[in-house]
Amino acid sequence: MNYTEKFRPQYHYSPQKNWMNDPNGMVYYENEYHLFYQHTPFASQPDFGKMHWGHAVSSDLVHWEELEASLPPGEDGAIFSGSAVVDTQNTSGFFDDYGSGLVAIYTNNDNKAQPGKPQVQSIAYSRDKGRTWTKYEGNPVLFPETTLDFRDPKVFWHEDTSHWIMTLAVQDRVEFYTSPNLKEWAFASAFGADIIGTHRGVYECPDLFSIHVDGDPNQKKWVLILSVGDCNGVNPYEPEPPAGGSGMMYFVGSFDGKTFTLDEPILSVHDVKWIDFGSDFYAAVTWSDIPEGDGRKLWIGWMNNWRYAGTLPTDKWRGNASIPRELKLRTYREGLRLVQEPVEELRRIGSPLMALEDVTLVPDTNLLADITINNAELIAEFEIGTATEFGMKVRKSADEETVVGYDTLNMELFVDRTKSGTTNFHPDFAAKHQAPLRPVNNRIRMSIFMDWSSVEVFGGEGLAVISDMIFPASESNGLELYAVGGGVKLVSLQINELGSIWRDEVKEEAHAYRGH
Ligand code: FRU
Repeated sequence: MNYTEKFRPQYHYSPQKNWMNDPNGMVYYENEYHLFYQHTPFASQPDFGKMHWGHAVSSDLVHWEELEASLPPGEDGAIFSGSAVVDTQNTSGFFDDYGSGLVAIYTNNDNKAQPGKPQVQSIAYSRDKGRTWTKYEGNPVLFPETTLDFRDPKVFWHEDTSHWIMTLAVQDRVEFYTSPNLKEWAFASAFGADIIGTHRGVYECPDLFSIHVDGDPNQKKWVLILSVGDCNGVNPYEPEPPAGGSGMMYFVGSFDGKTFTLDEPILSVHDVKWIDFGSDFYAAVTWSDIPEGDGRKLWIGWMNNWRYAGTLPTDKWRGNASIPRELKLRTYREGLRLVQEPVEELRRIGSPLMALEDVTLVPDTNLLADITINNAELIAEFEIGTATEFGMKVRKSADEETVVGYDTLNMELFVDRTKSGTTNFHPDFAAKHQAPLRPVNNRIRMSIFMDWSSVEVFGGEGLAVISDMIFPASESNGLELYAVGGGVKLVSLQINELGSIWRDEVKEEAHAYRGH
């Protein structure tokens, strides 16, 4: 297995075979990052009756080892999304002779315990670092009152009240539950049913966490994350996420152990804050139990969109994760904003290929005409001049290109994948996706992570993020720096070739290419 199939991501996690959707149960425990995920080990299409938790581990967030799929479906139903925690104080009593261990909290879909209410929450525990799991005999631990959509529990330990908190997606709202032991759950409050602009589809995969403001340990806010499904537009009069289909948003506020309160009311659809302006970043949730000494908020998303997820033109596998990202909350003129940055660990697989400084780009000249590359990090800073549009074209050939650019008139960063390669598997795929981004000191900074089948673009230190899948021919490996309608100064450009996390020889090839 060397991960060289057409379109196979080289440094993004994808299962060796078959279907993957949401990341699940992300937890750090005994020097390992765990990544579980929605997975059907025997089918390359989403088969909701057969959902397992696939499993991979990593010691550095970059190199992943795929393990046996865990948590198989059974009489209790399929295993839908959920989370995992380290039960440090053995509140559950599952770890009497072990001290601590992992507890997974997940949704059983198609559970028969209560007729007409198929989604319930269940738990399982592992005493061997997540390798094997025992489903709790007292499952389910939480039943719905009335509704069908009742899923995706994300659990964390709330120090101030010494309780576990579960954040749960319940159709058009988020519900919070509390528990002393992960087995008995009490309803605390609900949030979101009345928030306009957020109800195009059903709520999914919520996450609630506290985070420092501008990195200041004395200033803390709570951020609530929500995914909103495509669901054929449950409420067609509500706006779609920025790139259509399924998408993600966030809310900033406070949390007292029971109730989440928004800092600023949402008075119009324009007040809704979206996390990613591309089409392919969904169901992201944060890692649990990151050691205090590290202290970062880390997450990963599913690089896909329910609008076309089942039709992606890949063969052996279908679906992959995004790169791991660090979340920060920063103060801007318009208020607090969540920003995302690629985790610094990714630098480990990068090797500098070339750099440019202080050159003026003019139309119809390409300073990168000699370079061919299929996976790289490209970091560029431009000083706005007379050009109305500028940026980079990646994965380029005579017929194909993915344009990552900046539109100075509309003040928008964008990815245009209309000519990116294979796009005909779904009518909505060939599209241009825009994110608002104001220049800072007349400059625009963008960092692009491109892989064999994706681009993730971080504009303005991670304030404007666009994550898009692309399916170019492997020969479409050209690059172009471009300007339209005038000149623009390229303050700096750095290109780092990124290796494969599955094979070492790519890096060796990269060295050979540069004559080292
Ligand atoms: C989100 C989601 C979750 C659900 C899972 C099923 O992508 O629809 O709400 O638990 O996928 O695979």
